[in-house]
Amino acid sequence: MEKQSEMQNREKAHSAERLDSKGSGKCQGDDSRGSGKQRDDAVWRQLAQAALDARKMAYVPYSRYAVGAALLTEQGGIYQGGNIENASYGATNCAERTAIFKAVSEGERRFSAIAIAGGMEGAEPVDYAYPCGICRQVMQEFAGEDFVVIVVKSDSDYRVHGLRELLPYGFGGDSIR
Ligand code: THU
Repeated sequence: MEKQSEMQNREKAHSAERLDSKGSGKCQGDDSRGSGKQRDDAVWRQLAQAALDARKMAYVPYSRYAVGAALLTEQGGIYQGGNIENASYGATNCAERTAIFKAVSEGERRFSAIAIAGGMEGAEPVDYAYPCGICRQVMQEFAGEDFVVIVVKSDSDYRVHGLRELLPYGFGGDSIR
């Protein structure tokens, strides 16, 4: 029979993590100038760490390039994903889409940020990993107005970009309505 602790771990792995109090909306009412930026920094840092952690789950027997993504819902939940490769290379799923599809398949629809970390398996990232074009398109589908993409080398070395900057003039649902 499965041990209780293993069952609990599995349960945890299937549900969205929450931001801890440091990064939660609790700071939102802070009225000092610049507090919004401080709050964002704390949240981005935590999301960066979640992306680094997610790399450990990547399945990359072909490229050995492990990518982790951590997606922040507008409610403050975090969904993680790794890239999942396939012997038929085209069937590979990127880390960003793994995280997004996990979240959407659990009923989430609106997101505010995604952090991405990539590098050779077993080593720390040496460069910022920018999302591929397909992932940018999938982000746009569910992105809130100010959605940001955070490319991560470490939890203290990351860059924050607006999705609009990475995907200008994007094709969206409005185009076909
Ligand atoms: N990959 C991602 O996970 N995200 C991207 O945005 C670009 C590429 C993965 C796919 C493949 O498993 C590996 O990186 C090398 O292309």
